[in-house]
Amino acid sequence: MQQEQRPGRRTLLGAAAALGAGAVVVGSGAAPAVAAQSGTGRDGQAGHGGSYKDLPKPTVIGHRGGSGYRPEHTLGSYQFALDNGADVIEQDVVPTKDGHLVCRHENDITGTTDVAARPEFASRKTTKTVDGEAHTGWFTEDFTLAELKTLRAKERIPGTRGHNTLYDGRWQVPTLEEVLKWADEQGRKRGRRIWLHIETKHPTYFRKAGLGLEERLAKLLRRYGRAGRNSHTFLQSFEPGSLQRLNRLGVDCPKVLLLDDLNTRPWDFVEAKDPRTVADLITPKGLKWVTGFAQGIGPWLNLIIPRDKNDKLTKPTTLVRDAHAAGLILHPYTMRNENSFLPADFRRGTDPNAYGDVFGAFKTYFATGIDGIFSDNCDTAALARADFVKG
Ligand code: G3P
Ligand code: CA
Repeated sequence: MQQEQRPGRRTLLGAAAALGAGAVVVGSGAAPAVAAQSGTGRDGQAGHGGSYKDLPKPTVIGHRGGSGYRPEHTLGSYQFALDNGADVIEQDVVPTKDGHLVCRHENDITGTTDVAARPEFASRKTTKTVDGEAHTGWFTEDFTLAELKTLRAKERIPGTRGHNTLYDGRWQVPTLEEVLKWADEQGRKRGRRIWLHIETKHPTYFRKAGLGLEERLAKLLRRYGRAGRNSHTFLQSFEPGSLQRLNRLGVDCPKVLLLDDLNTRPWDFVEAKDPRTVADLITPKGLKWVTGFAQGIGPWLNLIIPRDKNDKLTKPTTLVRDAHAAGLILHPYTMRNENSFLPADFRRGTDPNAYGDVFGAFKTYFATGIDGIFSDNCDTAALARADFVKG
């Protein structure tokens, strides 16, 4: 059984139900009609205003959309999440060669598109070092948007999520702009704005490649009325410098600093020879520093409840208490229903791909006081939240 795959050891996970591919058209587009609405839900889903403080708690964040059920980061995956209990829907963004932001968990698109089967792109296969790690495959920054749009998305972990391969080839790689348009359309249908949680991926790497993410992101967010404090948008990054840059660009959305394992360092720290590790950042002093540019942290779940050598949960750390004392919210990642990702305490049977006692796991994590959770299975998370709120 494996634990959550983290940067540095994420070989496996790197880790519109009704919409056909290309249903949302790329374009510069005027600011959408719902841009200024703060909106309360009229559709039976969670209704809330424009401040993150008004979101239901613990907030259900659809990780890469509804990636437990559809190939991740597709309009199908986002639609599934919106229709099945997610309060907030996550996008990871990377750039194309011509500077468009597209939604992929990493710039290596070998595992999540059909690029390897496309002879016209065979010569683009290469090896790159991204954040200190060598990767061999095909990379978004070597493709124009027009070229990338000829590819089709596919399930990242077909051995674990065989059912999801039914949807292989159905959707394209979406641009962030397409997703912003989609969110506006869905918001108009529902009479409320749709919450998004957008992560800048490998921001230092891309800046060095001449493809800085933050200016492009700021421009798009402004165009779609999502750059303000109450604009139904979280921004997240593993690199503090990316969030700080967004602040300098005047983007006021609430920001969440993602935190990897204790002994790791954000890549911008590595490049700047800043010796601080995640362990330093989660001390009261470190958390106070984080409040200078972010409203929350997104820790790996094991920072909240560590696992022992048998993969069983141990005693919760003081991170929830310490972060709250500093005034930070917590959006930890990632809950997945399959045995292979759950702590040993909640596995059921011997099939690693079968679902375990995920309600038991959610209950345990929710009891720590976290403010939200990233989950591949938003429907399960929403039911678990309802149980938890009921008591
Ligand atoms: O952004 C929250 C969570 O997605 C962080 O992990 O590697 O899946 O982006 P990752
Ligand atoms: Ca992410």
